[in-house]
Amino acid sequence: MSFHPKMAYDASFHKSGRTLTEAGEPFAYTPENTARFESIVVRYPADRRRSAVLPALYLVQYQQGHVTANAMRYVADLLGITAADVEDVVSYYTMFHTKPVGTFVINVCRTLPCALNGAERVTEEICGKLGIKPGETDPSGTFTVVEVECLGACDRAPVVMVNDAWHECLSPEDASKLLDDLRARGEAALSGCHHVVESRRL
Ligand code: FES
Repeated sequence: MSFHPKMAYDASFHKSGRTLTEAGEPFAYTPENTARFESIVVRYPADRRRSAVLPALYLVQYQQGHVTANAMRYVADLLGITAADVEDVVSYYTMFHTKPVGTFVINVCRTLPCALNGAERVTEEICGKLGIKPGETDPSGTFTVVEVECLGACDRAPVVMVNDAWHECLSPEDASKLLDDLRARGEAALSGCHHVVESRRL
């Protein structure tokens, strides 16, 4: 006999309190991303396919800009885990987006070392220039600003990650110039250090 009270079975995929309500369009990798996924998953032991969940989700996000519930189910099927397992990962990491975002997602680190080195002023400069608050996307759909926790480059604070490129030791003036440069030159302006392993540059 169980000491746990009997819980009503909730057939919905999402856990209570989660904001993800849209299943989204049916999802499948493009042939190109299927090939990328296959090249990634063989790096892991056959009984540890779930370890590929992060790169698998990155591929989803690179393909459609954000990760829908249908895409989570797709990834779960590929890796032999549950959709809830995938959702747990998506909801834990701030780099995954469950709603559409701008072309450039500007992640400003707000953890202590960056805060002490002026991260708040960087956020104010960026948001003031775009006329939005953290968490919002500008009316042109080009920029989304997010405040995040440590990006792992504390010795180069304050740190801003734009999509998958780190820009370090950024003053408010530097951040303003970066916005102008992104508008003018697009991705070519992302001159910072990129994380390559899971990215499109495979
Ligand atoms: S505190 Fe900002 S990168 Fe670590």
